[in-house]
Amino acid sequence: MTTQGEPLLSASFRLDPAFTVAPVSRRTFGSFVEHMGRCVYTGIYEPGHPTADTDGFRQDVLALTRELGVSVVRYPGGNFVSGYRWEDGIGPVAERPVRRDLAWHCLETNEVGIDEFMRWAGKAGVEVIYALNLGTRGIQEALDVHEYLNHPDRTRLAELRRSNGTDKPYGVRMFCLGNELDGPWQTGHKTAHEYGRLAAETANALRSADPDLELVAVGSSNSSMTTFAAWEAEVLEQTYEAVDYISAHAYYEPVEGDIASFLASSVDMDHFVERVVATADSVGARLKSTKRIMVSFDEWNVWRQADFQSGITAADPSEWAVAPRVIEDRYDVTDAVVVGSLLISLLRHSDRVTAACQAQLVNVIAPIRSEPGGPAWRQTIFHPFAITSRLARGQVLRVEPHGPLYDTARFGEVPMVDAVATYDAEAGEVSVFVVNRGQDQPISLTVPLGGFGGTFEVAESWTLADPDLSAANTEDEPDRVVPVEASGVTITDEELRLELPPVSWSAIRLVTR
Ligand code: AHR
Repeated sequence: MTTQGEPLLSASFRLDPAFTVAPVSRRTFGSFVEHMGRCVYTGIYEPGHPTADTDGFRQDVLALTRELGVSVVRYPGGNFVSGYRWEDGIGPVAERPVRRDLAWHCLETNEVGIDEFMRWAGKAGVEVIYALNLGTRGIQEALDVHEYLNHPDRTRLAELRRSNGTDKPYGVRMFCLGNELDGPWQTGHKTAHEYGRLAAETANALRSADPDLELVAVGSSNSSMTTFAAWEAEVLEQTYEAVDYISAHAYYEPVEGDIASFLASSVDMDHFVERVVATADSVGARLKSTKRIMVSFDEWNVWRQADFQSGITAADPSEWAVAPRVIEDRYDVTDAVVVGSLLISLLRHSDRVTAACQAQLVNVIAPIRSEPGGPAWRQTIFHPFAITSRLARGQVLRVEPHGPLYDTARFGEVPMVDAVATYDAEAGEVSVFVVNRGQDQPISLTVPLGGFGGTFEVAESWTLADPDLSAANTEDEPDRVVPVEASGVTITDEELRLELPPVSWSAIRLVTR
């Protein structure tokens, strides 16, 4: 409430079970574990840690991973994968080679490889998306890693997996055909033509082994790439019938003095998805194909890349360290609101974005932080992800907010309120996810329930906001920023009302009375 006792601004959107977009895809709530910085070593894996289990996995991090509601994890990179030899990470640990990782200029000990990671994924209860190295390697190595992972027995690599302790095939369904090969920074960077051909041939070979795999062609590393859209068009011309997905990656950061645009980052994500879909569909039309390519948004998050590039959080390049501290961004209240709104954008596009991975899971631009030998805690961005993953069920419902606009340098006028809803008809539950991107005033939100009739009560409501937008969770104060019960929540047969503080993310679950 304002000091006068009344919110000055109001907004509304109607909820209607007829406005379905698509079923909620559980893979929207994916994450990413790269052999980078301290994501693997002292992140998920730290044998000497007081909470480590007999496999060396930190159980505090495992518990937080489950609580985060992660459904699927992309592994093992990232830029790392484009120089990675998967076979370095199998067999007796003492015999595994230490290698240079040119992507992040550090040393990879290979203590954790495929078998360890698959064991961790089983404990975390997550599916694995395996990213193949199409930077320094090619079709044969892709087939080899697939054989090791998925072939039941009798072949050399299936028997090698069995002799390394895993009888049954892992049954990995989804494979990324490389990582960010459009980027000049990528080891094995390629033109769209070169990559498209390699991706098509690799996909065809993998499908000869297993026609049911789900394959992701590399899309643009971000929508500002000069090759954006032309890359997707050329790659899909060559791979259209061989792949199921095109990838998208996007990282958002505040630009000095322009928080307004940062808060509207989901406008950029909306445009990004819609442009990739338009490009894919135009290739499909030209090829006279009835198939629809889906988007795998398999890297997204808030990342202060300006700090990284200026060396503030970069590893010392002279060092060749093992698991150095790299891009361990500390997230604040504004970042959490942006992450919440990016999840709204992903859900809104559930008809075409059916997989997404927040990058990354632990320590490296991550919702979970851990200290070697010390505690693990939830960053601010943990909360909107965990609650959205838990509450988004059934069908995604499109909503059209009406309300105040605000000016941004990057996107022009933008609605202050953005929202999406989900409806689980079987459980009789509706969940609403909403942000107030305005910085100055609370907004009184009214949600007419006309399409549903007066059958709901509020089961739970959450708001993440704070007068101090720079507040963050730290080792000393791990719960400085947590969601609290939403304020001003009332429900009648006709409408739901709640109050949205400035710069806030909220979620509310309604159940049938
Ligand atoms: O997630 C960090 C890095 O960002 C990944 O390794 C790369 O794919 C992207 O550029």
